Amino acid sequence: MIILGIESSCDETSVAIMKDGAILSSLTHSQEEHSLYGGVVPEVASRAHLEKIDILTKRVIKDCNLTIDQLDLIAVTDSPGLAGALLVGVSFALGLHTAYGIPVTGVNHLEGHICSLFIEHPDIPTPFLSLLASGGHTAIYRYESYGNCRCLGQTVDDAAGEAFDKVGKLLGFPYPAGRAIEEEAGKEEKTGTTDERENKKEKIKFPIARLSSPDSLDFSFSGLKTAVKNFISSNSGQYIKENRPQICGAFQKAVVGSLVNNLHQASRSCGIKTIALGGGVACNGYLKNELIKNFGADNVFFPSPKFCTDNGAMIAMAGLKMYNASKTRFPNMDPARGIS
Ligand code: KG4
Ligand code: ZN
Repeated sequence: MIILGIESSCDETSVAIMKDGAILSSLTHSQEEHSLYGGVVPEVASRAHLEKIDILTKRVIKDCNLTIDQLDLIAVTDSPGLAGALLVGVSFALGLHTAYGIPVTGVNHLEGHICSLFIEHPDIPTPFLSLLASGGHTAIYRYESYGNCRCLGQTVDDAAGEAFDKVGKLLGFPYPAGRAIEEEAGKEEKTGTTDERENKKEKIKFPIARLSSPDSLDFSFSGLKTAVKNFISSNSGQYIKENRPQICGAFQKAVVGSLVNNLHQASRSCGIKTIALGGGVACNGYLKNELIKNFGADNVFFPSPKFCTDNGAMIAMAGLKMYNASKTRFPNMDPARGIS
């Protein structure tokens, strides 16, 4: 079974070829032009997808020594995402479907992130709790099998990655800022004496949001962003510059603390110990270490960074799961569709 996966929902144009569940080749073009604007500009994204999608698809097919008529299925992200960006991928996939008669299925981007785990961990025990933390979404799902996946809690405002990007902007990092914040926080351990570091840590702390219902598994990150903003505006530019690693460390600790707390609560209430990660924030080493500390190395599964951020391989994997469950569907673009 050879599947071409196509992803173009936001600012990555990505295609991959999967054969019988194994990725043969995967190519991603990340649109760096958005860093000029501090966030993704939808019109710029659509144009950049248009420029790359054809070239990348031809290359990935050639890399695998295949011809287009050998494809058994095209899996394309049709929801959720930027309308114009989705339109490029979906129109391209439908063009191939019409011209070559290759079957096509629409894939939900969030299901793609959850399924990214199966690329490198096909035998992960089910059911598991999937934490999806990206620039657009933050949610915990209980995953049993394809089509049997329930959302237990999600962000009520900003996504975790969005919080990293917004705080990064306040601290002068280019978009997207997640990785830069993690790197800056890493410098914290290398500055001053142990006492000085502890002293600074005591002074710089940000709150973890608690939602009104104690049973809620929802997240909120907008208050944390405001807390960092207020901290920056109430201290001198010099102080902020000198303490940037500590600020990044305290912010990262608050985001990760919130993710870990909710996973603990979900794990207790569902009686599930296996934790799977997905989405760009799953690249974060501090998050992975904290989860391993809390749940044990044998219970925590995460994809390689190239399969955490948006990629065509995860869409091919979701396409395979859909095919195996007889749940493929004709692409139906919807910028706002969640997981039903
Ligand atoms: O999954 P993704 O590529 O796109 C969406 O579907 O949104 O995730 C991108 C997000 C960005 O917000 C980026 O800042 C964040 O993932 N990210 C990170 C790290 N690497 C990427 N956040 C925290 N730590 C990282 N190392
Ligand atoms: Zn994504």
